[in-house]
Amino acid sequence: MSEPILHLENVHKYYDKGAGATKVEVLKGIDLDIYEGESVCILGSSGAGKSTLLHILGTLDKPSLGRAYYRGRDLSQSTDDELAEFRNKELGFVFQFHHLLSEFSAIENIMLPARIGGLSERDARHRALELLTMLGLEARQNHFPSELSGGEQQRVAVARALVQRPKILLADEPTGNLDTENSQQIQELFFAFKARFGLTLVVVTHDNNFATRFPRRLMLKDGHWN
Ligand SMILES: Nc1ncnc2c1ncn2[C@@H]1O[C@H](COP(=O)(O)OP(=O)(O)OP(=O)(O)O)[C@@H](O)[C@H]1O
Ligand SMILES: [Mg+2]
Repeated sequence: MSEPILHLENVHKYYDKGAGATKVEVLKGIDLDIYEGESVCILGSSGAGKSTLLHILGTLDKPSLGRAYYRGRDLSQSTDDELAEFRNKELGFVFQFHHLLSEFSAIENIMLPARIGGLSERDARHRALELLTMLGLEARQNHFPSELSGGEQQRVAVARALVQRPKILLADEPTGNLDTENSQQIQELFFAFKARFGLTLVVVTHDNNFATRFPRRLMLKDGHWN
């Protein structure tokens, strides 16, 4: 079998608040292989460590112990600059709360990762507009996040995560704050983009209806796979 695109080996994560405080061990030796093009859903109760795990997969956080690999490359050997480039070029991240920049318009928010990645203003705008159009938001391109509904903001955040045409899309409860209709729309988008761009999808969700659409579902409990 070919090499996994993401691989975790005996990953532990603990938070140590210093003298006298109890050490919180969130992940207790997690192994994981995700292959290119897979769609994986991560489930578990609140506090189970889902966001922590997703952050480690996305190199936004580091394991306390154990290793994370991307296509066989040990990410602990990469410099911060290399990791930043890896996140910009290979990964899209959708957060539970969209984290759009309030002083930038919708299209500017989407263009930002492309501009940071070295794309020209013209090409970045072209790509951002293409995504906004796919999302049915082209008329909203010059609106600021505060002028958009929650569902619209989340769609802009999805576009921002996809503008660099990542290999992997990591999403942390992307439908957590949306009503059924908006949630449904985001779900459709994920699978449409996956089909179109061959994305590898890793999604944390509490939404059962969303979860059942994934061929592979993993449950995190007490720091282990359940
Ligand atoms: N920086 C930190 N310092 C100390 N403890 C932390 C820190 N970050 C997370 N934790 C703890 O780690 C545990 C797992 O947190 P995490 O955010 O990964 O949970 P989660 O599964 O995403 O939960 P939710 O479904 O509520 O989002 C929690 O008990 C949390 O309090
Ligand atoms: Mg979380």
